[in-house]
Amino acid sequence: MEQIVQQIEQYKQEMQAFEATTPAQVEAFRIKYLGTKGLVKTVMGEMKNVPNEQKKVFGQILNEFKEFAEARYTALKEQTEGVAAGGDQQRDITLPGEVFPVGTRHPLNIVRNQIVSIFGRLGFAVAEGPEIEDDWHNFGAMNLPEDHPARDMQDTFYISQNPDWLLRTHTSSVQARVMETQKPPIRVICPGRVYRNETISARAHCFFHQVEGLYIDENVSFADLKQTLYFFVQELFGKHVKVRFRPSYFPFTEPSAEMDISCQICGGDGCNICKHTGWVEILGSGMVHPKVLENFGIDSNKYTGFAFGMGIERITQLKYQVNDLRLYSQNDVRFLKQFTGAV
Ligand code: DAH
Repeated sequence: MEQIVQQIEQYKQEMQAFEATTPAQVEAFRIKYLGTKGLVKTVMGEMKNVPNEQKKVFGQILNEFKEFAEARYTALKEQTEGVAAGGDQQRDITLPGEVFPVGTRHPLNIVRNQIVSIFGRLGFAVAEGPEIEDDWHNFGAMNLPEDHPARDMQDTFYISQNPDWLLRTHTSSVQARVMETQKPPIRVICPGRVYRNETISARAHCFFHQVEGLYIDENVSFADLKQTLYFFVQELFGKHVKVRFRPSYFPFTEPSAEMDISCQICGGDGCNICKHTGWVEILGSGMVHPKVLENFGIDSNKYTGFAFGMGIERITQLKYQVNDLRLYSQNDVRFLKQFTGAV
């Protein structure tokens, strides 16, 4: 009897280790252990060889063995049925599939892409520069020496690791990067994020986005500048848009001008956005200062150029009537999903 008990223990271990992932494997288990010629039956047949006084104890062992085999069979069966049904829960495969929501492009990126594409048609290539800049590329090279008062308007964040590093205050720094590596003719458009030390409000933020343009060649004139920018706003806002240039000052251009367009919110009648003037400033521009050209070894007697810089937030505000700058960075999907531009 000792021997049979040992044999039963071994069968139990085998049953425990038996793995089944398909109904056919479960059936194989049933036939092997619980079938009419199965091992449980065979072991039961040993009863007749056991001495009478031991039959009671043996009977208990046999019963327990049979129950063990049945329990294991039920467990395997349930397990494979669960797998076939797609997991632990039963699934109704006739239900509609799960919906994976598709995001929309950020409004600032929609407008940036539109701007880049319009200038792309005029032959402007995209150029980019680092957001962490050094003093030279952001200020010095652009004709803003250390003690220049114009720097006050562009206070920014400095990197404590190196006092010469800062977060760029304008994309004009990319002009410097481009002139460093390219020879005229140069025709680039430079979109990117810029930073300023501002208190965050509906009208100011510590970071925003600009697009810079730079065109340097022989015989580039102020008339080219005006015509290029006029074409641009007509493409972006439509033929109805009016423009006006106002004389201005930037250290890196001479002469300089700011360009206003007729207010796209009120149509020029006067509203909060245009401060009741009918006009909204959208960019700064001018003829590249000869000093800037010379900083990069470009002969200012031979070459002239124009440059401009615009804020993408402002242009998006005029296109989509967004009246609070903070909305752009709050990540509120109710705001973001209103813009479904294809570009
Ligand atoms: N960098 C100027 C700003 O951030 C904008 C600007 C003005 C860029 C005139 C230009 C320019 O390239 O010619 O306020």
